[in-house]
Amino acid sequence: MCGIVGAVSQRNIVPILIEGLKRLEYRGYDSCGVAVHQSGELKRARSTSRVAELNTAVDEDGIAAGTGIAHTRWATHGAPAVHNAHPHFSHGPGAEANSASAGRIALVHNGIIENHEELRAELKAKGYAFTSQTDTEVIAHLVEHLYSGDLLDAVQAALPRLKGAYAIAVFCRDEPHRVIAAREGSPLVLGVGEGENFVASDAMALAGVTDQIVYLEEGDVVDLQLGRYWISRLHAESGRFEAQQREVKTVHAHSGAAELGPYRHYMQKEIFEQPTAIANTLEAISSISPELFGDGAYRIFKEVDSVLILACGTSYYAGSTAKYWLESIAKIPTSVEIASEYRYRDSVPNPRTLVVTISQSGETADTLAALKHARAQGMEHTLTVCNVSTSAMVRECKLAYITRAGAEIGVASTKAFTTQLVGLFLLTLALAQTRGHLGDEQEAEHLKALRHLPVAVQAVLALEPQVIAWSEEFARKENALFLGRGLHYPIALEGALKLKEISYIHAEAYPAGELKHGPLALVTAEMPVVTVAPNDALLEKLKSNMQEVRARGGQLFVFADADTAIESEAGLHVIRMPEHYGALSPILHVIPLQLLAYHTACARGTDVDKPRNLAKSVTVE
Ligand code: M6R
Repeated sequence: MCGIVGAVSQRNIVPILIEGLKRLEYRGYDSCGVAVHQSGELKRARSTSRVAELNTAVDEDGIAAGTGIAHTRWATHGAPAVHNAHPHFSHGPGAEANSASAGRIALVHNGIIENHEELRAELKAKGYAFTSQTDTEVIAHLVEHLYSGDLLDAVQAALPRLKGAYAIAVFCRDEPHRVIAAREGSPLVLGVGEGENFVASDAMALAGVTDQIVYLEEGDVVDLQLGRYWISRLHAESGRFEAQQREVKTVHAHSGAAELGPYRHYMQKEIFEQPTAIANTLEAISSISPELFGDGAYRIFKEVDSVLILACGTSYYAGSTAKYWLESIAKIPTSVEIASEYRYRDSVPNPRTLVVTISQSGETADTLAALKHARAQGMEHTLTVCNVSTSAMVRECKLAYITRAGAEIGVASTKAFTTQLVGLFLLTLALAQTRGHLGDEQEAEHLKALRHLPVAVQAVLALEPQVIAWSEEFARKENALFLGRGLHYPIALEGALKLKEISYIHAEAYPAGELKHGPLALVTAEMPVVTVAPNDALLEKLKSNMQEVRARGGQLFVFADADTAIESEAGLHVIRMPEHYGALSPILHVIPLQLLAYHTACARGTDVDKPRNLAKSVTVE
């Protein structure tokens, strides 16, 4: 998703901007660009290729300066094309060409400006020529229009005109050592250096440049100059921008630049890192207690009478799995909502609900907005299960469980998912304990199973060669059906999501009992039907559903636990899971589905780590 880096310094900051973009690259983008203040004018380079190519263009054009901004763009308004890539310039009204070395205002933007059409019409009427289809270009022209010698004044005048979500960074030809940045709904940090200052959409982009980070808050505007910065925000009562003090934190942001090692793709590496990621996530756990989730958790857990889980995509499926645990083990009523739906829906708020957000990145706009919506309705007991301790999600929630999956580079979430499940299982046990449903013996048994998980996962990873054999056949298909029941229905959903997002094969998942209510009509010899078959209480029911598929000539591909007595025969292919793993079985069963998606995508030759149209961190609505 879009990324921003900006800097004001005495030294040449172009290598810092390019390196910052590289650190944000894994999030997904389709174009990139950089603009600097050089020899009294604005210069820029933009590309629809990778940041490495942008770097070559920058070198060839001799772009070097102390003030500049850079951007990776994930297209929302306007196709991925050079003319839509940021930074956008404004030349003022009446100017014709958008040449590479002209203009007065340069601007980059993350987010979406909802009233861009209205602003565009207004600015066109004033004589501004538009060279892109983006919503961003209207902000550049608006700032230019409002500029009368002070960039901060112009930005502060422009911001109240914008509706939607944004993080912006902007500089002006007439003020060489100054960048103004602002945020509303999209993340932005200030990096404080010695005699120089930086801005970025994520502290990770500034790793190795400065570890002195200010997390800007909603509505903040920051004026970056060489030896100083100044933060302000609009005061509702006075109607004026007033100075704000923000804490400078020392943040050891990891670079995100993990080595691939022996693996072909980050996704494969991350699948194989799951034993370590799970072990790390469990490292500090010697017993179950609410305090694992932060100070004050016991009081909150005692007070709540229900759980509301808010998340998107794979994180939503982690929440859907946790619902089964929370209701059966902790006996607490749980609902799971897709964040982008919940935030706009009329629901019945319950102040005694524990609102749990789940997010790998901690920056997903829909999930953050859903959290805000829940809080606005008086639901103040908030907890997040998140992989990034410095993220907005962790800052916004009272309680947190930080998973230790490490940086996940592949767009398709794998190790983040299984570590989320571990965090959610611990939450289940802590709530069960607080509510009197977890005796010492049960706690010891669950802890034993959790500690053995890394070994159990390793054994499942050894199934890779058998999965590869299946993937050849899947690669020739255009549709696939996934079935699961109970606790493993969300795992079937996750398997289908993995397959569709990286192999582009259309895949759907159903609770197996639903087949006969419609989807059975799709089953032919051409339809592979992947079945998640743990040896649990629903196995016999599942076997009947498999018969329904067999009877219609469907091809079954079954991941069956040992001792399920499901044997391979014509039209029924079986890969046997090493062991049945009770309540934690979903964590094992998702792994062959990840491998199946991965190897099918490889066989189809897709860009596994950066699937088309997708971004790693979805910071726009
Ligand atoms: O960072 P988050 O966990 O909040 O992201 C949520 C989804 O965007 C994410 O899980 C997405 O569905 C993945 N690409 C799935 O592999």
